[in-house]
Amino acid sequence: TTGGLADRHGRVATDMRLSVIDKCNLRCTYCMPADGMPWLPKQMLMTPDEISRIVRVGVDLLGVEELRLTGGEPLVRKDLEFVIGSIRDACPTLPISMTTNAIGLDARAQALRDAGLSRINISLDSLHPETFAALTRRPMLDKVLAGVRAADEAGLGPIKINAVLLRGVNDHEAPDLLEWSLEHGYELRFIEHMPLDGDHSWKKEKVITAAEIRDGLGRRFALSPDPAARLGSPAERWEVRRHGSAPGTPALGRVGLISSVTEPFCAACTRTRVTAEGRIRACLFSHEETDLLEIVRGGASDEEIAQRWREAMWSKPRAHGSDSIGLASADYVQPERTMSAIGG
Ligand code: GTP
Ligand code: 5AD
Ligand code: SF4
Repeated sequence: TTGGLADRHGRVATDMRLSVIDKCNLRCTYCMPADGMPWLPKQMLMTPDEISRIVRVGVDLLGVEELRLTGGEPLVRKDLEFVIGSIRDACPTLPISMTTNAIGLDARAQALRDAGLSRINISLDSLHPETFAALTRRPMLDKVLAGVRAADEAGLGPIKINAVLLRGVNDHEAPDLLEWSLEHGYELRFIEHMPLDGDHSWKKEKVITAAEIRDGLGRRFALSPDPAARLGSPAERWEVRRHGSAPGTPALGRVGLISSVTEPFCAACTRTRVTAEGRIRACLFSHEETDLLEIVRGGASDEEIAQRWREAMWSKPRAHGSDSIGLASADYVQPERTMSAIGG
């Protein structure tokens, strides 16, 4: 057979997310346990050649249109510049983006850009050193801010900032995070906390919902729906202005709300995921994975790789839990893997 990455619910995946490593240098409470993460042995990680081969099959045979590199933390991989260079050589026109915590980016932003990286999204949940340290369990805010600046200077924009709000920890900071992002020209997105943490301590009642965030921001800013089409984007975007601005005043910028819990966007999902050990994960919340690296290492042809990938995507779940209410439904079962091991 031929064709792209279609599933039985009528969706077609064109947006590929590939984790380059499961390790991370932070321990965000919503993502990983404090310690005891069993890292993958190095030989299980894909080599640069294996990564660029798989990406090339996705692009040439399966209709993949864009690639996002994730982790763990992609910058923990010392050969990341080389990985990106190999992908760039194999796929000269593919947009390559990355989601990162920005630690160490100050020294590497320019090299990553030169290797072929197109743009980045940075995770940043607090601008206060103590809150940042409590949330990530590491006192590294300064390093992150240096990384953000370097990325901007290296031309890795437009930069998006991802923030997860936790009740009683950093939720009061939402308007300040937006003020800071507007000032620097970054697009801030708030992500609802999803049940993918290491401690399995997620509770529906504790989630700061997108509606709540919008109300909170509305006290400081005037928000109006962004007229641009949403397409497959997980973020619902709002234009931001000062209260009382004259009609026709240009927006100061935009803010996005990613309501994975209260308004899942699974029906419009265009994503296909590859884990750091080379397995296809059809959905963030899948309980099944399909090993691709195994057949790559066994000498499979491009068409054999493509066919196994198609089959893995065909059975992608329609949504999580029994109904489209998804994550908040009573029969939702959290996958074994934490977010850090899936790659966001
Ligand atoms: P661009 O819009 O292309 O910049 O990227 P993105 O927003 O898809 O990438 P990013 O890695 O920054 O994703 C932001 C967050 O959206 C992720 O960290 C997840 O929390 C959430 N997200 C991404 N993909 C999915 C998905 O398939 N399902 C759900 N529920 N959430 C997702
Ligand atoms: N819920 C929502 N977002 C999460 N992230 C990590 N874990 C979770 C979770 N449980 C986000 C990070 C990062 C991206 C890769 O995923 O903040 O921006
Ligand atoms: Fe690391 Fe990102 Fe997970 Fe934080 S959210 S522990 S930075 S992978």
